[in-house]
Amino acid sequence: METPIEGIQWNSLGFSQTKTDFMVTSRFSTKIGRWEDLQVVQYGPVDVEPASAALNYGFSVFEGVKAFRSEDGSVQLFRPDMNAARFKQSAERMNMAAMDNELFIDAMCKVIAANSRFVPPCGEGALYLRPLLFASNCQLAAETEEFTFVVFASPTGNYFTSVDRGLRVLVTETYNRSAIDGVGFVKASGNYPATMLPKKLAIEKGFDDVLYTDSNESRFVEEASASNLFFVRDGKLYTPDTSRKTIHEGITRASLIYLARNELGMEVVDSEPLTVDMLKSAEEVFLSGTAIVIARVKSLTFENDADQEYKYPSYEVGKQLKEMLMDIQNGKRKAPSSWLIVD
Ligand code: COI
Repeated sequence: METPIEGIQWNSLGFSQTKTDFMVTSRFSTKIGRWEDLQVVQYGPVDVEPASAALNYGFSVFEGVKAFRSEDGSVQLFRPDMNAARFKQSAERMNMAAMDNELFIDAMCKVIAANSRFVPPCGEGALYLRPLLFASNCQLAAETEEFTFVVFASPTGNYFTSVDRGLRVLVTETYNRSAIDGVGFVKASGNYPATMLPKKLAIEKGFDDVLYTDSNESRFVEEASASNLFFVRDGKLYTPDTSRKTIHEGITRASLIYLARNELGMEVVDSEPLTVDMLKSAEEVFLSGTAIVIARVKSLTFENDADQEYKYPSYEVGKQLKEMLMDIQNGKRKAPSSWLIVD
């Protein structure tokens, strides 16, 4: 592994793309029936014809995986087996060619090895890997015969510029992001642009993000634009359940549930629908995700009760979990078994 490249201000990277040198690609054709060998190629444009199902019908799914540098210079991938499983689940739900975990993890290792000088110094961010799968064949019909797999990488820092002061979040009833038994749980590319307009409108009103409720009754909380929700109430940690297929099964979400139960000894409620009203009497609220890590929510405003801003001055549990998670990722704290792959 190479040492970090000179000339990058790692601490001020944010979440916008910094181009790296190489990407990994493969192709699947239903005629051949298997993935081609992975290729490491120069980062650059990929061929997509105007009639491709990716462009016409949004046949595209992705993942977000992070690699971290430890103090001894080694580089470790955080829970890529979970990303691999979710990538497969996304591909299957969208009727796309899936790949096995081994090939997925091999692709992650190859993209890191080729771009290792872009893995930030220990504690100064992560190399964010973006595995992407799309239907690349050129037919107008939605059935598709060829899929392209690309993994590119970018060093990243904080997702929210406002993360340190805490987020102001709007709970919307005007917009929904997902329907019961639909594709809200899939990391489908199309799930993300659907949240852009509500978020832009919320930002114009002084908020940082939007929190969605269920599309049937607006009674249960779901997730934010690109992250899962957690809150603390009467000493218990709550996060909405994923059984109705409306919510992403976040890998950070699963990791925080584990750490809260096993390291903090907390009771965690993660398999029940949670009402919007519960948030009004919460003591602490935060969001989680691979890109976001943990972002404190300072206040919530409910669209149907917009005169009142519910404030959450506490950030004890979120802070402890964030420190624990980051220490594990940076190799400063022992990781639960199989959480890290050291490259
Ligand atoms: C991630 O957290 O990795 C995601 O995929 C969300 C994305 C919008 C950055």
